[in-house]
Amino acid sequence: MKRVAILISGGGSNMVKLVESMTGDHPARAVIVGSNDPHAGGLAKAAAMGVPTFAVDHRAYKGDRAAFEAALIEPILAAQPDILCLAGFMRILTPDFVQRFEGRMLNIHPSLLPKYPGLHTHQRAIEAGDAEAGASVHLVTPELDAGPILGQAVVPVLPDDTPDQLAARVLVQEHRLYPEVLRRFALGDQTPVSLTAA
Ligand code: GAR
Repeated sequence: MKRVAILISGGGSNMVKLVESMTGDHPARAVIVGSNDPHAGGLAKAAAMGVPTFAVDHRAYKGDRAAFEAALIEPILAAQPDILCLAGFMRILTPDFVQRFEGRMLNIHPSLLPKYPGLHTHQRAIEAGDAEAGASVHLVTPELDAGPILGQAVVPVLPDDTPDQLAARVLVQEHRLYPEVLRRFALGDQTPVSLTAA
């Protein structure tokens, strides 16, 4: 049974889907959920599902990234995870941190990578006139949003879409994609998953 730690920064809807998926004969279990924001809405949701939680407030470290990450990694290592999932975790991690989990840290990003790494992905897809948008799950490497892709879900961009409308359409697919990629990854299968909106 693989042990999975999850990091969030906000509402944690992807985290909820991941935790919910890890039951029965699933090859993994959620062992801890952490956040850089003590007020992240997802923390209470994780606790309600019986998963231990912690928060390390990045604002208390005033730009000292090394000290922040030293505090962040402590409860993660204590939980002895095999896999670390970033699920809406909005802090950039240093290469030092990333290397501690090399080959076993996953992230979900709301674009069809390699398009639109970074922020404002939906607005950028709309402004570019793209016909399709989506989400990607990838292995985390030191370069932002650039690691090997483990799965993608594609949705149409509709005429007159706002970034929020497109984000909501993509999020529905994120909730299908991330659990499917994690299940396969926990079984040792890194063949890219490809989903299209039903
Ligand atoms: C998701 O759309 C995720 O893809 C995105 O943040 C949202 C978190 O929602 N992640 C990033 O932008 C990472 N750079 P959630 O908290 O409801 O899962």
